[in-house]
Amino acid sequence: MTTPTFTPRVFSGIKPSGGLTLGNYLGAIKRFVQMQEEDFETIYCMVDLHAITVWQDPADLRRNTRELAAGFIASGISPEKSILINQSQVPEHAQLGWVFSCVARMGWMQRMTQFKDKAGKNAQNVSLGLFGYPALMAADILVYHATHVPVGEDQKQHLELTRDIALKFNHDYGVDFFPVTEPVIEGAATRVMSLRDGSKKMSKSDPSDASRINMTDDADAIAKKIRKAKTDPDALPSEAAGLENRPEARNLVNIYAALSDKSVDQVLKEVGGQQFGAFKPLLADLAVSKLSPISDEMARLMNDPAEIDKILARGTEQAREITAPILKKTYEIIGMVG
Ligand code: TYM
Repeated sequence: MTTPTFTPRVFSGIKPSGGLTLGNYLGAIKRFVQMQEEDFETIYCMVDLHAITVWQDPADLRRNTRELAAGFIASGISPEKSILINQSQVPEHAQLGWVFSCVARMGWMQRMTQFKDKAGKNAQNVSLGLFGYPALMAADILVYHATHVPVGEDQKQHLELTRDIALKFNHDYGVDFFPVTEPVIEGAATRVMSLRDGSKKMSKSDPSDASRINMTDDADAIAKKIRKAKTDPDALPSEAAGLENRPEARNLVNIYAALSDKSVDQVLKEVGGQQFGAFKPLLADLAVSKLSPISDEMARLMNDPAEIDKILARGTEQAREITAPILKKTYEIIGMVG
């Protein structure tokens, strides 16, 4: 059988389960915007079906979904250049998700570190959806035959599982139907850490608001959180090797590098030798100058939710032109009678 060539196509998603953080922006959205300008078809998604693996208040879910769409657009994702969708509205995601639940093995799922972290000691009491989540995530990607998936470091294992599912499906049915997707995990900020604890990921679910920068924080809040960020007493080194075993220092330098589109070495050439008392105000000014225009634009877009809904409705139509034929073909391969 000849190996099919797949259209270069990008898919990625973010859960509307709370506000966007600087981690989401630097680890994912910034790259989404870049890839939109490259030689790819790009599809970006609010993954609301993933959000409900943990109970969401319906009014909050509605608001968070629209706010996430506003965040995408305000960050530079253009509805003219990219397809922007809400996952539940494109039913082929959930339909292929079921098929992949029958392809993936229990043992594969049990190895997922994110499930273990999230379920913790409570594993008997979390939803079945939280456990099966990676099969739906594989479907999100493969229902578009997406070839590239930009994500932060924490999604790497899920993308490896996506490859395993594609390969097993192809093998079990003797086809070359699903592509083996390339993870795109690049840049200085693939893992932005908590401002309070350099060993923990910055996360929207951390109980401490001081641990993260939210995309909706105003200039004062951003400056205050950076001023209070945990650091160590030493000056900044002039080379990247000097950041070893200094997780908080490394995190702030990585954030600076990602926000200014410079390498860590370039940044350290400029600020090496400075104490945090001097560096933090520089970082705060940079963060405010990059993030304020985005949060202002988000607030403006949120004043017109009907316009956001219109953009998502158009995205749904465009998406289904891709997903419906791929699902149909999948069902044919499996032997489902139409
Ligand atoms: P979610 O909603 O937790 O995060 C969305 C994106 O933001 C990245 N990210 C970070 N990057 C760097 N530093 C951080 N502190 C940080 N926090 C979050 C994540 O890596 C991710 O890229 N399972 C996914 C959503 C999903 C998906 C998909 C992604 C569902 N289907 C298909 C790609 C393709 C998730 O929970 O992301």
